[in-house]
Amino acid sequence: MLLFREKFPIDWLPKVLGNLPAVLVDHAHLERKAATTALNLEKYRDLYAQVEALNAIAIEELQHFQLVLELLKRRGIPFSQPYPSPWISGLMKSVRNGQRHQAIDHLICCSLIEGRSCEKFQVLAKELESIDPELAKFYGGLVESEGNHYASYLLMARAIDGAETDRRLDFYLDLDAELIRRPNPLPMLH
Ligand SMILES: [Fe+2]
Ligand SMILES: [Fe+2]
Repeated sequence: MLLFREKFPIDWLPKVLGNLPAVLVDHAHLERKAATTALNLEKYRDLYAQVEALNAIAIEELQHFQLVLELLKRRGIPFSQPYPSPWISGLMKSVRNGQRHQAIDHLICCSLIEGRSCEKFQVLAKELESIDPELAKFYGGLVESEGNHYASYLLMARAIDGAETDRRLDFYLDLDAELIRRPNPLPMLH
């Protein structure tokens, strides 16, 4: 179950539906970054025991990346430059330094990114049904996996320090709620 305290803005959906080719390119980069992020988490001492679980997530994200690339190819959309997400960089800016604190904050940020993807893919699967059935099916097929990543990252943070994770999650849920309200006209998922 997702814990978010704020809904994404109502203008997000028409923006995405009106810019599907650009959003798909952004989505490809999102999956690419999700794969590299899973591998980057393996640098933390507290996550050495999770290296195989993190590899499994990285492999899944790489498969998602590949699926989006195939979709781009079928639709004749060139793979191009990514947009930076103000929401993601806003979350990542508040990751603290220091092994344990950094690992917990980084995991929580990853968890929220996965959670927002899960939430938005679910909405897209439903909304695209009548407009673009192929894409609706594609997004529907990703919901469970991104939801599992959301839960896995949160569980990994709790396994390091449950009380500290809950305290930081409270902070990050407020930050997410504040950042998600900020207007972002760019054709991107987050
Ligand atoms: Fe993914
Ligand atoms: Fe994911």
